Amino acid sequence: MHGNVAIDGPAGAGKSTVARLLAQKLGYLYIDTGAMYRALTWKALQLGIDLSDEEKLVSLAVVTTIKLENTAGGTIKVYCDGVDVTAAIRQEKVSNHVSIVARIPGVRRRLVELQRQMAASNRVVMDGRDIGTNVLPEAPYKFFLTASLEERARRRYQELIVSGREVDLETIKEEIRRRDARDSQREVDPLQPAPDAEIIDTTNMGVDEVVSKLVELIKARTKDPLQSSCLR
Ligand code: DC
Repeated sequence: MHGNVAIDGPAGAGKSTVARLLAQKLGYLYIDTGAMYRALTWKALQLGIDLSDEEKLVSLAVVTTIKLENTAGGTIKVYCDGVDVTAAIRQEKVSNHVSIVARIPGVRRRLVELQRQMAASNRVVMDGRDIGTNVLPEAPYKFFLTASLEERARRRYQELIVSGREVDLETIKEEIRRRDARDSQREVDPLQPAPDAEIIDTTNMGVDEVVSKLVELIKARTKDPLQSSCLR
């Protein structure tokens, strides 16, 4: 068996798609940690909680049940207190507020605890911002995916257009820029590559190309040839 895989990087670098496909290829569980911060943000917004009230948000994190389900079809479903919030957590309102919730130390402590529990009982590909640096510092395979701001905004724009939303490229670019700044400048576990992470610039790469590259790198790092032979 191989060890866990940590994938970090800024918004729109293609982490979730790549991580999901890689998990399928390896037969691992895919854990989208961003979805957990989003689910909590969704709940806080639903309840009308003031997002500057850190104490309330920490209490909310402690009493909220967040579950991630890998479906047989290869997609993931997100449940918040038993409610399917898979689509709701992708709403712009959630996207634009999630980094405010994610910078609260007590919220992070609680969600990181849940993430570590999931990784303790399964082989996982986990993606987020602090997986290689904080959640799974012992993971043998760490990747940091980046892409230019322009390209990341273009990808997000296309996703939203395909899902039938009317959006403006410049606005998306500005939102991603703001989120990047909040995620990398926060005091607790900011977005940054782990010292032992492989940094991959995906600006000019397709999804399949990135997945193949990660498989190649994992193979190269896997010392036991019997282990690497089960990776295709
Ligand atoms: O990957 P995403 O866009 O779904 O993440 C949503 C937000 O959650 C993002 O602004 C950063 C935050 N996040 C985090 O702080 N730590 C993680 N491990 C994952 C996400």
